[in-house]
Amino acid sequence: MKKKLAALLAMSMLLTGALAGCGGSDEPAQDDTAENTQSATQDESAESTETTGGTLRMGTNATFPPYETVDDNNNVVGIDADIAQAVADKLGMDLQIINMEFDSLIPALSADQIDIVLAGMTVTPEREEQVDFTESYATGIQSIIVPEDSTIASVDDLADKKVGVQTGTTGDIYCTDDLGEDHVQRFESGVVATQALVNGQIDAVVIDNEPAKAYVEANSGLKILDTEYAVEDYAAAVKKGNTELLDQINGALEELKADGTIDEIIANYIHE
Ligand code: ARG
Repeated sequence: MKKKLAALLAMSMLLTGALAGCGGSDEPAQDDTAENTQSATQDESAESTETTGGTLRMGTNATFPPYETVDDNNNVVGIDADIAQAVADKLGMDLQIINMEFDSLIPALSADQIDIVLAGMTVTPEREEQVDFTESYATGIQSIIVPEDSTIASVDDLADKKVGVQTGTTGDIYCTDDLGEDHVQRFESGVVATQALVNGQIDAVVIDNEPAKAYVEANSGLKILDTEYAVEDYAAAVKKGNTELLDQINGALEELKADGTIDEIIANYIHE
């Protein structure tokens, strides 16, 4: 199934071109309700990038625990926020986090409204044509959430069902390719998709495994199937061609991996 998926995905990319860009408007909608600026420790000796004047503007979609959510004080918190803060600290920059729709992130990067995306974003060949990805910092698995009493037991049982996804995500792309438009219902977030599942409007939700666990925990009567739809790499993204920032971030990530900071951040949120 995974091979078939990969082949289908590759084919659909060749045929249809910019899929992830579809659905996003040219003017990325920003959600000001959850914008936060976190001050990094300024390191006088560190270089700051000319394009940003010392502030690293990170775009994300904070509906994706434990990578990013909005806390009670309206701050974006989670693995990606912590990693971005650690990277900004290394570069001697301030971090500003801007919360927006997931499918607005790549357009916002291209329009210079943000400098970097950290959003549990999966590296795909199609997105690689639109942005430059850093080295991967985490792995994700596309999971299937169903009601506890569902007859759906595997990926193959999804045919003829109605599956909820977050717009523009890889879950959206895989399900649309595998099941067809008529069997996919798009939502602004996995949270809203899961609500629709609880309400009986759809039969399943396909979304990354860690947020899936959080959604299932937050609602009763749901379970995650013990099958992996697809295994993916998460990476940060910068505007296509911004090699200066890409190199700086890769350098910082490399150091943060080597000294155990990345593992530590992930272990703070994900307890296996
Ligand atoms: N990994 C999936 C993708 O890249 C879903 C990411 C959704 N992230 C978010 N912050 N809502 O398409």
